[in-house]
Amino acid sequence: MPCTVVVCGFFGDTGKGKVISYLALKDKVAVTARAGVGPNAGHTVVYEGKKYGLRMLPSAFVYDKCRLLIGPGVLVNPDILLREIEVTHSDGRVGVDPQCAIIEPKHIQTDKRGHLAQKIRTTGTGTGPCNAERALRVVKIAKEVPSLQKFLTDVPLEVNRAIDEGKNVLIEGTQGTYLSLFHGTYPYCTSKDVTASAACSDVGVGPTKVNDVILVLKAYNTRVGAGPLPNEISEEEAVKRGWLEFGTVTGRKRRAAPFSYELAKRAVMLNGATQAAITKIDVVFPECKGVKSYDELSQGAKKFAERVEKEIGVPVTLFGTGPGALEIVDRRDKWKS
Ligand code: GTP
Ligand code: IMP
Ligand code: MG
Repeated sequence: MPCTVVVCGFFGDTGKGKVISYLALKDKVAVTARAGVGPNAGHTVVYEGKKYGLRMLPSAFVYDKCRLLIGPGVLVNPDILLREIEVTHSDGRVGVDPQCAIIEPKHIQTDKRGHLAQKIRTTGTGTGPCNAERALRVVKIAKEVPSLQKFLTDVPLEVNRAIDEGKNVLIEGTQGTYLSLFHGTYPYCTSKDVTASAACSDVGVGPTKVNDVILVLKAYNTRVGAGPLPNEISEEEAVKRGWLEFGTVTGRKRRAAPFSYELAKRAVMLNGATQAAITKIDVVFPECKGVKSYDELSQGAKKFAERVEKEIGVPVTLFGTGPGALEIVDRRDKWKS
């Protein structure tokens, strides 16, 4: 803090929602700004006995004093956003930039057929066709949508003002480094760049304003949709290891593979990460379930963390030990200079 960017170092679904919800509560984040593609994302937030599957609203909503913004680079599906605002009772603190592009039914229809559905196996949420129209400069934007009028605000101005005032600010990335249109496994990728630089651009924050980039990694790799996944294991093996997951948005099975040090290292480079979080430590090391201090982690988990740090060259400061927002080991203090 004060300005921290959170992005994923693999193929999405590494638990950014959980890490962000923890940071919001712990650091009392004043302003959060959602970056990334749009409602193709699915963040799971588990807090106070409730489970939320968010596609548009920032995951920092759990901290009830946090201002919740959506940057101009993000595609908005108004129906989904309005529903999430209702479910989370966050009406009074949401702001949408007037320049957010709007997903319409025609985009969703196009995304559900042809090569997007069959070859790329997209989420079918209309984001690719909407970004294509945006590039052609024919897409509708938020300021033209009646149901969004009361939320419209200059997001870059709000975010930069908060940073300049020394408040804690989060920039919430979505998807994952290897789904980036520029740095991912083209053509099996999403419809724009999703690394930390792109997340900053999405919300109108320049690179000199960022203090930390937290790269979220999971203790094993998963991927939904088509495209390469190094050292992929069979579904049967994934079930055996407890690694079989289902997508938050589409319900599709996630393919699985062991943790890739190589991908993690490159992701540190591409995102300029200053620290890393590893989620699902409790899945690979069940004895770590619910643990909240580094000393309580098992020898196996510590050895894994040490190897990750050695290979990727940045400290692992956060360890997810369960799905709950507060099920986390936080040793950021140890690394403060
Ligand atoms: P995208 O923006 O779609 O990439 O998603 P995401 O990074 O927010 O992750 P998503 O919520 O889709 O998937 C992560 C899953 O792991 C969810 O079911 C979380 O509840 C769960 N999860 C996150 N962290 C942990 C953890 O440390 N331990 C366990 N057991 N589950 C976790
Ligand atoms: P699209 O972003 O819907 O166009 O999908 C393109 C590719 O990115 C597909 O393989 C999707 O499964 C994947 N994808 C997009 N968003 C996410 C996400 O939030 N988590 C995981 N995979 C995603
Ligand atoms: Mg997800």
